[in-house]
Amino acid sequence: MVDPYTVGTSNIGTTAAAPVSHATGAPAVSIRELKKSYVLKSETVHALRGVSFDVPEGDYVAIMGPSGSGKSTLLNLLGCLDKPTSGNFFLGSDDVAQMSDDELADIRSRRIGFVFQSYNLIQQYTVVENIQVPLYYQGRLGPAEQKRAIDLASSVGLAERLDHRPMQLSGGQQQRVAIARSLMNDPYFILADEATGNLDSVTTEEILSLFDRLNAEGRTIIMVTHEDEVAARAKRVVRLRDGLLASDRINSQESREEARRRQHENILALAQRKL
Ligand SMILES: Nc1ncnc2c1ncn2[C@@H]1O[C@H](COP(=O)(O)OP(=O)(O)OP(=O)(O)O)[C@@H](O)[C@H]1O
Ligand SMILES: [Mg+2]
Repeated sequence: MVDPYTVGTSNIGTTAAAPVSHATGAPAVSIRELKKSYVLKSETVHALRGVSFDVPEGDYVAIMGPSGSGKSTLLNLLGCLDKPTSGNFFLGSDDVAQMSDDELADIRSRRIGFVFQSYNLIQQYTVVENIQVPLYYQGRLGPAEQKRAIDLASSVGLAERLDHRPMQLSGGQQQRVAIARSLMNDPYFILADEATGNLDSVTTEEILSLFDRLNAEGRTIIMVTHEDEVAARAKRVVRLRDGLLASDRINSQESREEARRRQHENILALAQRKL
């Protein structure tokens, strides 16, 4: 996925968004017949060929599918990093598909939280500074924002690491900084692209537990993953195939708990082997 924290935005100086109410059951995202084609010299690639689904507030969706099925294309559209060729994409009551580039940049920096496989932290910045990055684009930085960044760092278990730089942190700690950063602008939803792809099983579990907690607190999460064990932790699994929705299934509460138990057992077995 393109990195929105380094993509230029044109909304420096806009005012703070009102806090969003989470977990009201209203659709956070609604897409209808979303299509995306890439026109190349010799051919047109139909990456998404008409995808429709709703994501209610408080949902936790894993997007899966084979390579080339359109996952990253869909994530780029959901993240307002790219525009669909046709179709509708509602965030609340706003049709994002009709927005100008400036409006897209604005909504992206104010209302969407991004978490990437490779963390995408700024190496020269401390933990607290990295968490505040979404606000740099908005020219909104003061003592209140600094305090919010410190509170977010503490809430993801990094209270003792506030002045560390990414190089001085483990992969799991870096991803926790990225998750805290994604929450800085009180987003409509968190978009995670293979967020555990670079992490070992123990650290993956740590990050998935953090997602569980954030979701229990009402945060809407949409993640792309290749791993069945990761998708098994979400509330719902949407599968793409050849640019179309192949299936959309709910994970029962029991199956999610079973997946969590299985992952804990795997980690224990791993730890015992190491002793
Ligand atoms: N910028 C682009 N220009 C042209 N074609 C593209 C572009 N981006 C993606 N595609 C094509 O669109 C299709 C869907 O690609 P996409 O990256 O969304 O797949 P994916 O499901 O994320 O795959 P992977 O699991 O390998 O990351 C592919 O055929 C890909 O080659
Ligand atoms: Mg991809």
